[in-house]
Amino acid sequence: MEMLGKEGGSGVTVVAASSRLENSQDVAAELDEIKPTHVLNAAGLTGRPNVDWCESHKEETTRVNVIGTLSLIDLCAQRNIHVTNFATGCIYHYDDDTHAEGNGVGFTEDDPPNFDGSFYSQTKAIVEKVIVATGYSNVLQLRLRMPISDDLHHRSLVTKITKYEKVVNIPNSMTVLHDMLPVAVALGRANMSGVYNFTNPGAISHNEILGMYRDVVNPSFTWKNFTLEEHDKVVVAKRSNNELDSSKLKSACAEVGVELVEIHDAMRGVFVRMAEAQ
Ligand SMILES: NC(=O)c1ccc[n+]([C@@H]2O[C@H](COP(=O)([O-])OP(=O)(O)OC[C@H]3O[C@@H](n4cnc5c(N)ncnc54)[C@H](OP(=O)(O)O)[C@@H]3O)[C@@H](O)[C@H]2O)c1
Repeated sequence: MEMLGKEGGSGVTVVAASSRLENSQDVAAELDEIKPTHVLNAAGLTGRPNVDWCESHKEETTRVNVIGTLSLIDLCAQRNIHVTNFATGCIYHYDDDTHAEGNGVGFTEDDPPNFDGSFYSQTKAIVEKVIVATGYSNVLQLRLRMPISDDLHHRSLVTKITKYEKVVNIPNSMTVLHDMLPVAVALGRANMSGVYNFTNPGAISHNEILGMYRDVVNPSFTWKNFTLEEHDKVVVAKRSNNELDSSKLKSACAEVGVELVEIHDAMRGVFVRMAEAQ
């Protein structure tokens, strides 16, 4: 969790929070000490080595992802502090109907979640439902998916799929952090609120990403595919695959004067910067 302190001069003071989400008295004390104008919350339990951990640690996951997150939002609401909550779009899965894989019809912010295959995703859907039902006006709820950094960080999707023995090949909406984090800051500073799909427009498949990685970064790279059915046999919790609609986010971006980069262009940018840094 990071807190943006009060703006002073031309800059913004940013403070990394030290309290734990489930310790609400500590969170309250830290808010009262720092008195931030904005809180950026990227804290959450995601499980190690992966979300399968959450299946066998449901109380801990609930304590942080549901109770802790809602407590932070409520404490901020009582103090008139804006919260940018980095949430997830992994609450949807392609269906055989309106949102079939590859038909380009993305889930909107108004579509009810249809993926509960992992406890982790369930906790995220619960929080969002409460935020919407309560109508917290201080919350900007950003639904990220499969975040990608430029640096092969171990949590980046590119790192994960270049290291797996086999990968599925499914188009998905994804969040390239280089392009999208400035968008989050711009929306937060404009005190926007509500739920937004927070992915680069469009969808890109695993093979398209790995092909770009080979072409731009590592010419000797090879990979093997397997089917979703084969994939599901080696994990405990199911994983969601979906495309999210970007219309609402595009309108918000137009209001604050920032542009969104289409996912293929964004992904190519990641690999160009990665190759330059080698
Ligand atoms: N990576 C993804 O694929 C993805 C996709 C969509 C959304 N998200 C969401 O984005 C957020 C960040 O994801 P990530 O990939 O960066 O996860 P991560 O690598 O597991 O990092 C989670 C962060 O949350 C902190 N944290 C965990 N429990 C906490 C607690 N009780 N109180 C305060 N801080 C706590 C951790 O700090 P410590 O190390 O000190 O515990 C760590 O800095 C999560 O909410 C996740 O659900 C992630």
